[in-house]
Amino acid sequence: MNDIAGYVATLPKAELHLHIEGTLEPELMFTLAKRNRVSLPYASVDEVRAAYAFSNLQDFLDIYYAGASVLIEARDFHDLTWAYLERAHADNVRHVEIFFDPQTHTERGIAFGTVIDGIGRALDEARDRLGITSGLIMCFLRHLDESAALRTLEEAMPHRRRICGVGLDSSERGNPPGKFSEAFRRARAAGFAPVAHAGEEGPPEYIREALDLLEVIRIDHGNSALRDPGLVAELVRRQVPLTVCPLSNLALRVVDDMKAHPLKRMLELGLMVTVNSDDPAYFGGYVNDNYVAAAEALDLSRGDLKRLAQNSIEASLLGRSAKDELRAELGA
Ligand code: ADE
Ligand code: ZN
Repeated sequence: MNDIAGYVATLPKAELHLHIEGTLEPELMFTLAKRNRVSLPYASVDEVRAAYAFSNLQDFLDIYYAGASVLIEARDFHDLTWAYLERAHADNVRHVEIFFDPQTHTERGIAFGTVIDGIGRALDEARDRLGITSGLIMCFLRHLDESAALRTLEEAMPHRRRICGVGLDSSERGNPPGKFSEAFRRARAAGFAPVAHAGEEGPPEYIREALDLLEVIRIDHGNSALRDPGLVAELVRRQVPLTVCPLSNLALRVVDDMKAHPLKRMLELGLMVTVNSDDPAYFGGYVNDNYVAAAEALDLSRGDLKRLAQNSIEASLLGRSAKDELRAELGA
């Protein structure tokens, strides 16, 4: 283990941008395909990995939604979530806020409750056996229309004890946040914490819309904010957290080279930036790998890395005493 990886491993941290469907490793994909008698368009694990050469977000999403077809029973959602939580525990992750895409499953005839039961059981086990606390954020798929999001919100209501927030993901270009104003208005009124993907491939205007029309408390990604100095000033002033995902940005060609990643500039500008893995099974690394890749390419200091871990705690939905405890342990 090199020096940076060793240091990153000592930092208690939260992960705030993690799609549970994006933690499906090819080995588990094959296990579940066999268990559920689902046929896959790949002959081997190596063939699956070879397919993970993406030119943009849509390339990835096509494969990601196809992979999710092996998830059928509550036990499958449990096993998927538990595998991620064990991996997160190894990275010294103490708190996770996990995205899931209910429409990816309900559209295939899987009940909302099946998804929630499986994921929820693994989260309870992680609390009891690994000491990891968690929240669950359901994302609306932005390539579908708002009426589908509104139906999903209704379906979520009986399970709302289990769900702390709503998010917005999938194909960004051509699907601005404003398309979901009413769904977010109702979700906020029902007590869900609102977040949204914005500024990954989309323009800075989408980040503004997410703030102004969806009233989000965090921006997922937010890279394109740097093209708009006025927006940066507002994000800094309000300390709106950005959940940045370096290896995802590289895999989906949001940046051409890790050395060109805006993370260091974001820190220098005073943005409340955090580091996360997004879809680690597809992008070649879990959260600590993201810290290390960024640190090596951008020459981040130990102080920068500690700041990123501290930001992850501050930007989480944890209560004050849990934040105080983690902050104290971090020595921040
Ligand atoms: N769904 C899973 N990962 C995503 C990403 N990086 N952007 C948009 N939607 C997603
Ligand atoms: Zn994401």
